[in-house]
Amino acid sequence: GESLRSLAEKLGIYIGYASINHFWTIPDSNRYMEMARREFNILTPENQMKWDSIHPEPDRYNFSYAERHVEFALENNMLVHGHTLVWHNQLPFWLNRQWTKEELLKVLEDHIKTVVGHFRGRVKIWDVVNEAVSDMGSYRETIWYKTIGPEYIEKAFVWARQADPEAILIYNDYNIETINPKSNFTYQLIKELKEKGVPIDGIGFQMHIDINGIDYDSFRNNLKRFADLGLKLYITEMDVRIPKSATQKDLDRQAEIYAKIFEICLENPAVQAIQFWGFTDKYSWVPGFFAGYDHALIFDKDYNPKPAYFAIKRVLEAK
Ligand code: G3I
Repeated sequence: GESLRSLAEKLGIYIGYASINHFWTIPDSNRYMEMARREFNILTPENQMKWDSIHPEPDRYNFSYAERHVEFALENNMLVHGHTLVWHNQLPFWLNRQWTKEELLKVLEDHIKTVVGHFRGRVKIWDVVNEAVSDMGSYRETIWYKTIGPEYIEKAFVWARQADPEAILIYNDYNIETINPKSNFTYQLIKELKEKGVPIDGIGFQMHIDINGIDYDSFRNNLKRFADLGLKLYITEMDVRIPKSATQKDLDRQAEIYAKIFEICLENPAVQAIQFWGFTDKYSWVPGFFAGYDHALIFDKDYNPKPAYFAIKRVLEAK
C-alpha cells in the first residue's frame, strides 16, 4: 500500500522519526534504512548531535557520526531536524566544572555557531533550546540557568540565527502538550521572547505519552494558543508507551491515541511535522527508562506495522 510518507507529502506535512546511533553498522541496517526511507521524509538524530557526541573535548568537534544521519537524509530527500543545541543532559565531562558566566557564555556561543555553521543549509530545523522549563512551571535549574541566568535562552536563539539565517529555530519540551503549569510558563516565556524580537520560529511538543492518552480538548486549545503567537508547531518525539506483554486491547487503544492526535494536528494549519521517537519497538528508549513499559512505537520488534500504523494511515487518507 501507500506509505505514510507519500500520504503526508500529499497533505504538505512532514512525518518522521528519531534516527538511532550508528544505524549504518547495526546487523539489520538495510532493513532499517529501507523502512525509514519508505515511510518518512524527516529525521532527527536521536543522540548523535548532542554535546557529548559532537563536542567531546573543549577544542575538538566530532561531526563524523552526525554526518551519517545528514547524508542518509539528504540522499533520500528527507529534511534533517537537528537535536539539540542547549540541553542539560548528555553533556561532555569537560563541561562539568565551575565556570564564570562570561566563560560559559563564550563556550555556548562557540558551540552553537560552530555546530549550526557546520550544517548550515543542510539542517533546516534546530531544537535550539530543549527542556528549559521544570515540571512545576519555572526555569529548570541547569548548568546554563545557574551560571548564566535566563538570558542563555535568548542568546542561544540569536547565535543560531546568526549562524544560519534560513534555519527554523524551535523551543522543544515534554509535558507541554496540554494546558498545565509547565505549558503556561512556556507560553509566557515564548510570548515575551517574541515580543522582544528574539528569533524563535516554532515550538516542539515532544509527546512522550502513555496508554491513558491526553486531554484532547486541552491539546487542541494549547496548539491554538501557541499558533496564535505566530509559531510553527511540531510534534517532535511522539511515542505512546504501554505495559509490557501488551494485549490486543492495549494495541488497539494505542492506535486510537495515535489517530486522535494526528486528527487534531491536521486540523491546525500551523502544524508542520509529526515525528516519532523511533519507528520500530526494537530500538526504543522506552523499556530502558520506564520499568514495565514497552511497545511505544508504530512498528513492532520485527518491523511489522502495528494497529497504530494503520490507524494513522486511515487518518491521513481521510484528510
Ligand atoms: O553511549 C553509551 C555507551 O557507551 C554505554 O555503554 C551505554 C551504557 O548505558 O550508554 C550509552 O549511552 C546511552 C545513550 O543514550 C546513547 O545510546 C545512555 O546511557 C542513555 O542514557 C542515552 O539515552 C538517551 C536519552 O535521551 C538520554 O537522556 C536516549 O537514547 C534518547 O532516546 C533520549 O532522548 C531524549 C531526547 O533527547 C530529549 N527528549 C526526551 C528523550 C527521551 O528521554
